[in-house]
Amino acid sequence: MKTDVLLGLQWGDEGKGKVVDVITPAYDIVARFQGGPNAGHSLEFDDIEIVLHTIPSGIFRKNITNIIGNGVVIDPAIIVQEFEKIKKLGVDVNRQLLISKKAHLILPTHRIIDAASEAAKGKTKIGSTLKGIGPTYMDKTGRNGLRAGEILEPDFTERYELLKQKHIEYLKQFSFNYTIYEADFFAGVEALRTYKFVDSEFVINKALADNKKVLAEGAQGTLLDIDFGTYPYVTSSNTVCAGVCTGLGIAPSKIGEVFGIFKAYCTRVGSGPFPTELNDSMGEKLRTTGHEFGATTGRPRRTGWLDLVALKYSVMINGVTQLIMTKADVLDSFENIKIAVKYEVNGVETEDFPSELNSTIKPVYRDFKGWNTSISNISTYSRLPSELKAYIEFIEKEIGVPVKIVSVGPNRNETIIRQ
Ligand code: GDP
Ligand code: IMO
Ligand code: MG
Repeated sequence: MKTDVLLGLQWGDEGKGKVVDVITPAYDIVARFQGGPNAGHSLEFDDIEIVLHTIPSGIFRKNITNIIGNGVVIDPAIIVQEFEKIKKLGVDVNRQLLISKKAHLILPTHRIIDAASEAAKGKTKIGSTLKGIGPTYMDKTGRNGLRAGEILEPDFTERYELLKQKHIEYLKQFSFNYTIYEADFFAGVEALRTYKFVDSEFVINKALADNKKVLAEGAQGTLLDIDFGTYPYVTSSNTVCAGVCTGLGIAPSKIGEVFGIFKAYCTRVGSGPFPTELNDSMGEKLRTTGHEFGATTGRPRRTGWLDLVALKYSVMINGVTQLIMTKADVLDSFENIKIAVKYEVNGVETEDFPSELNSTIKPVYRDFKGWNTSISNISTYSRLPSELKAYIEFIEKEIGVPVKIVSVGPNRNETIIRQ
C-alpha cells in the first residue's frame, strides 16, 4: 500500500481538519508529519466543535491509529490540554495515539525566543503564532534539540537544563524582559510519560507492508513552506508533500494520492505578501461570512480572491492528484466573484508564481457570476447551482486536476464527494 496525503495549497486554514475527519473512515492510520501547536484544525460533528493543534484529525474515529510523526514539534503543556479535551468526548487517547520518539520538544524558552525575535523584528515581524515553532526547528537543525523520547530518560531534567542555559545565553542579545514559566511544561512532561512513544517509521512502514491504509495530514499550507513559501513570511517546516517522506520516514515511492485542499477564496493570517488581498468591504464580507478568525490565535485573517497562479504552483510542487475545495458556501451571497488567472509584473504578464512577491505585482482577474443561493444543504454535485459548477469546472480545467470533494459547511455532513 501507499500513503495518501492531504495538505493545504494556500496559507493554511483551508479546512484540513474537517476533511481529514470526513475521509478518515477509509484509513487505518492518520499521521501528522510536520508543524506543531501553531496549527489549529477545526472539526464539527454531532453537537461537537473542537480545535486540534498537535493531535491528528482522525482521533474521533474509533479503531483508527493516530500518529504524531518525527517531523512534528510538541509542546507538552499544550498537548496534555488537548488530551484532556478529547478524553471528555470519550476518546481513548492512550489506545489510539502513538507519538514518535524522534519528534522534537518545544521548551518554555523556545516560546520566549520566538517572542523576543519577533519583537526585535519590529515592522518586519513574521506574525508568528508565538508557539516556539521557529526556535524549536532551529535547535533541531542546529543539533541542540530535545526529542520527545528523551522524557523517558532518567537524566531528562539535566538535558533540559543544559538547553535552557543555552537559551538564556542566546536571549542576552535581545533587550527583552521575560519570566520562564516551567510548571505547566513539567506537568505536561509528567503526564506525557504515560502515553505510547514509538519509532513511528517502523509502525507506518510495517502497516503499509500489511496493506493497511495510511493518510498523512498536513499542517499550515504550501505557501507557508520553509523552501517554497513566501519566505521569510513562512513557518519553519516543509509543509509540502516531500515533508511526508522526512516527517514520517516514508519513501517517495510509497506516496499515493495527494489531496490538495483549498478555499474557494484565499486567506492569510500573519504578515507577508498576498497578491489578491481585499482591503475593502468585500474583504470584510469574506471575513465575517467565513468566520475568518484564527483557530489558534483568534487573530482576524486577511482575505482575498482565489489565486490560480499560486494554486497552480502549489499543485506542481506537491504533485496533487485530487483537489478538494472548501467554503464555497461563504460565497453564497456574492453577486460577482473573481479569480486571479495571471499576474502582471512590471507590465509583463506571467502565470508563474514569482520567488519575490512585492507590491508591483498586479493580479489579472476573471469575473464569475455568483449563485446567490444557499448551498449548505446540497449533498450531490449535480444539484449544485450551475454558476458554482462553472466556477469549479473552470478551476479544474485551468489546473488539470479534478475537484473530488466540495465542502459546503463546517460540519462533517456538509460535504459533497463526487463519484
Ligand atoms: P485547517 O487549519 O486547515 O484545519 O482549517 P481551520 O480549522 O483553521 O479553518 C477552517 C475553518 O473553516 C474552521 O472554522 C472550519 O470549521 C471551517 N470550515 C471548514 N470547511 C468549511 C466549509 O466548507 N464551509 C464553511 N462555512 N466553513 C468551513
Ligand atoms: P493550520 O495547520 C495559518 C502562520 C503564522 C505566521 C507564520 C509563521 O491551522 O493551517 P509560526 O507560528 O509557524 O512561526 O508562524 O505562519 N501560520 C499559520 N497560518 N494556519 C496555520 O496552521 C498556521 N501555522 C502558522 O500566522 O504568519
Ligand atoms: Mg487552522
